[in-house]
Amino acid sequence: MTDVINFEEKGGIGVITINNPPANAISFATRKGLSQYLKACMNDEDCKAVVITGEGRIFVAGADISEFGKETPEGVPELEDLIQDIEQSPKPVVVAMNGLALGGGMELAMSCHYRLAAPTIEVGQPEVNLGFIPGGGGTQRLPRLVGVELALEMIVIGKPIDAKRAFEAGAIDEIVEGDLLARAIEFAEEKADSGQEPRRTSELNEKVTNIDPQIFEDWRKKIAKKSRNMESPFECINTVETSTTMDFKAGLENERAVFVRLRDSNEAKSMRYMFFAERTVAKIPDIPKDIPIQKINKSAIIGSGTMGGGIAMNFANAGIPVVVVDVDQVSLAAGLEKVRNNYAGSVSSGRIMQDNMDKCLNLISGTTDYKDIADVDIVIEAVFEDMDLKKKIFTELDKVCKPETILASNTSTLNINEIASVTKRPDKVCGTHFFSPANIMKLLENVRTEKSSKATIATIMGLAKIIRKTGVLVGVGDGFVGNRMLHISARIAEFMVEEGALPWQVDKVIYDFGFPMGPFAMNDLAGVDVRFLIRQEQKKLYGSRRQSVIIDRVYETGRYGQKTSAGWYKYADGIRKGEPDQIIEDLIIRTSAELGYERRKFSNKEILETYLYSMINTGAKVLEEGLAIRSSDIDVIWHYGYGFPRYWGGPMFYADLIGLPEVYKKVCDLNKKYGDWVEPSNLLKRLAEEGKGFKDFQFV
Ligand code: NAI
Repeated sequence: MTDVINFEEKGGIGVITINNPPANAISFATRKGLSQYLKACMNDEDCKAVVITGEGRIFVAGADISEFGKETPEGVPELEDLIQDIEQSPKPVVVAMNGLALGGGMELAMSCHYRLAAPTIEVGQPEVNLGFIPGGGGTQRLPRLVGVELALEMIVIGKPIDAKRAFEAGAIDEIVEGDLLARAIEFAEEKADSGQEPRRTSELNEKVTNIDPQIFEDWRKKIAKKSRNMESPFECINTVETSTTMDFKAGLENERAVFVRLRDSNEAKSMRYMFFAERTVAKIPDIPKDIPIQKINKSAIIGSGTMGGGIAMNFANAGIPVVVVDVDQVSLAAGLEKVRNNYAGSVSSGRIMQDNMDKCLNLISGTTDYKDIADVDIVIEAVFEDMDLKKKIFTELDKVCKPETILASNTSTLNINEIASVTKRPDKVCGTHFFSPANIMKLLENVRTEKSSKATIATIMGLAKIIRKTGVLVGVGDGFVGNRMLHISARIAEFMVEEGALPWQVDKVIYDFGFPMGPFAMNDLAGVDVRFLIRQEQKKLYGSRRQSVIIDRVYETGRYGQKTSAGWYKYADGIRKGEPDQIIEDLIIRTSAELGYERRKFSNKEILETYLYSMINTGAKVLEEGLAIRSSDIDVIWHYGYGFPRYWGGPMFYADLIGLPEVYKKVCDLNKKYGDWVEPSNLLKRLAEEGKGFKDFQFV
């Protein structure tokens, strides 16, 4: 027995069990062990057939990606060679898939001659989510088993399918309700005794013969927009296509070459990084994993406006009763009506079923009386952005709610330390900063105040998971992490417009980089008036710095964005995509003249660097001030809150890819142009000088 493989001989059948918890990942050790036992079975005259299975609830969740980029140690076969050896085995090899089979796990299963599975399993090729393609024959064997259309769906989208679908499509021979291993051994015995040549997937050519190449063209078109700038989804299509145009061996060789190239690409590095970043985000250095967290059985939301209604839906969707409070019946009824309409929209578009909507609505109740929320476990306040009002509400909540209730604010700019100070339980006060639309956006910035207890923080981090959000812990500060960075970059974008660029040029550059939209289109979505009001507040803090005059001028025209069918862009009725507008161009030109700027040309490169490097510099400040625990948390915020393209890994990882000396140099240039808005971060300077990256820094 090796430490990751168990072996047993059962009546002439060699049973190889992968035992590499938690995911039975195919590591160097797993490959070595599998290969050794396979060879032993081949050399053992008494062994008629082999069964491969996994210990625990997972068969094999994939390759061990932490070993990517490392040299394969002596004596360890490459996965594709191991897979070839299994398929070429003269003795039948049966896989008993006890659980999830993903990536290399699925490829291993497909190299076995027969596949048996427990009814609850899923199988898939999710490599594309990590920026590369299957590299162990998946692009060649899967279409031979399930046909080209389903193989494309599984490989290009990367979403697993369940056992029933896999069985119907031909990827599984038998679904075993009872004792899977016993049945697999029996099955292997039958095959061995039959004397038949084992069935090899690579020889099954029927489903890849005479395939219309239009299928592949259609898929390329289908993913073009969503996968722009990416290589891996398109290479998934190309390699599956080769299963229909090349013989198996050539297809395999081609797959291997593409796999190796993509595995080492920036796209794959970034996506692999994000995979780990998402898993690290929940780790809070001073909060032990086993800290007792509060159970959330019932919740309340104060304010049934844009955010309150959406936040309430999150709780109802997770099966948690939620009481919504508003000042009067009229506001409450209007808020609840919006929630109802929101659910109804999801039913009519087929995203949820009617009984689902009914269940959720039954969990949401409304009141205007604070006494009705005395027994809830958490309150999230989402009233107007007004410090005095919030303090009044927290004083009241502190009085009526049971002593254990956590009191959270959804404020986007106010100081939560100050809000907490009016209560007798500042340890139970924190921020839960949702993003709009709150029922859809995945990001939740959880805000730790000076006095929030560890149990409170652990509870809201746990809450994020319960309501299916990505929770990132941040500290109290203007705009917390995401909006602080956004507002500076958006401001700088406005300066560029004042000096010679146009909003649609800036937006196109940012869109082409991979964001869902640029800062001006985003502003039209969120409201020009909202940004204007934030700027008015910020003047109190940063009045001596350069101010954006163009936002004032647009605001003065009453063009508030999509809600008024005009903002930076003009909008045709019911169309959310804006058109460039001569009126705005004229207004911009007049504003440049007013400010005394002779308009100049901005190259796309200058726009991109100015926008991103000012964002990165602010991110470095956020880090050095301890508002984020680590740079990868900032990257998670930017991916889930603002759609920073995953294949660039987030602003901080992108900076590491570029190299901090280069970023620092450009930031110093920007500082000369834009003053204190881009005052170079000390941390950025230090890391650049030491030849390090943001990834090397963690706030302690
Ligand atoms: P909103 O104006 O849509 O809704 C506010 C609601 O609070 C209204 O229904 C109002 O009747 C109610 N309200 C006012 N006083 C109240 C009281 N004493 N008791 C109970 N309810 C009361 O505001 P919105 O946009 O939902 O913002 C709420 C909070 O969320 C603000 O702090 C805002 O900064 C923050 N936020 C807003 C985001 C957005 O995109 N709108 C994004 C993230 C945070």
